[in-house]
Amino acid sequence: MDQLDQLITEAQTAFSAAPDANALEQAKARFLGKSGSVTELLKGLGKLDADARRAAGAEINRAKTAIETALESRRDALRNAQLQAQLAAEALDVTLPGRGLRQGGIHPVNRTLERVETLFRSIGFEVADGPEIETDWHNFTALNTPDNHPARSMHDTFYLEGASEVLLRTHTSPVQIRTMQTHAAKYQGGDMPELRIIAPGRVYRVDSDATHSPMFHQVEGLWIGEQISFAGLKGVVIDFLQRFFETDEMQVRFRPSFFPFTEPSAEIDFAFMSGPNKGRWLEIAGCGMVHPKVLANGGIDADRYTGFAFGMGLDRLTMLRYGVNDLRLFFDNDVRFLRQFND
Ligand code: PHE
Repeated sequence: MDQLDQLITEAQTAFSAAPDANALEQAKARFLGKSGSVTELLKGLGKLDADARRAAGAEINRAKTAIETALESRRDALRNAQLQAQLAAEALDVTLPGRGLRQGGIHPVNRTLERVETLFRSIGFEVADGPEIETDWHNFTALNTPDNHPARSMHDTFYLEGASEVLLRTHTSPVQIRTMQTHAAKYQGGDMPELRIIAPGRVYRVDSDATHSPMFHQVEGLWIGEQISFAGLKGVVIDFLQRFFETDEMQVRFRPSFFPFTEPSAEIDFAFMSGPNKGRWLEIAGCGMVHPKVLANGGIDADRYTGFAFGMGLDRLTMLRYGVNDLRLFFDNDVRFLRQFND
């Protein structure tokens, strides 16, 4: 059956020449499709007598199988070629250096905060918290700050639009009121154990230069009990500063001052006695004995209990500890600056 062998060769050639799956299916139709050559041959069998039909049928089927085998092997080849092409296109160069994840670090102000917390916890202080959006009452009124006090002016305080009773707290002192109230409520009428807290957090003022920013950090300290004195305040603060800066080569000055919520009041100035910043005074805190009216507003019996409070600038402490001269560097988030604290 030369004709059949020729047909097989023709099909093999056509299939090998098909460049892709689509072309291959079209080539297939020419041989095996409804009016393809093999199909036509099979249709022709009807005209033959029984013996001839059997013989011819077997031959045609042999050819058909051969063509189908050729088709399958071309299909495999094309599929394989496509897979190889896809793999090549999606290839990753695993030898390239990875982009990796840089290890983050702790912000210098948070480093100070953690240090302050550790040191105060070690002498029995607990860490308290209060809202940054504060009521006018907690931030000012309860702290004995009169209506006409300059700190209440629009130039100094961020008020919230459409809400005259709330503002961004200008200091951490409102946490004094909040903790006094909860503490006093727990021991209503009975003996009250000492209250000893620090309250670190963000505070806000309309202020901006090298040593002031509209948002900065304070840590409030409050110690209330029987027989709490200004001498105790000085001891706690000086001891803290020596431990914080890991030196006693320092001068600490309690400069008489005024705050509506403490009486007497002082500002705490600090200077190193050695090192590159020797002799440069920086104000780092306000402090004083808690005013009896403030104790009363916190629900505490001012005839029986006294207390001291201080509000320290965490950013200032950080500047001093690391010799940073511009506060704004802390908030620019320049990694070249921040990395230095984590190497
Ligand atoms: N709240 C005061 C301030 O921000 C600091 C202070 C706190 C003063 C506690 C006295 C007692 O300036």
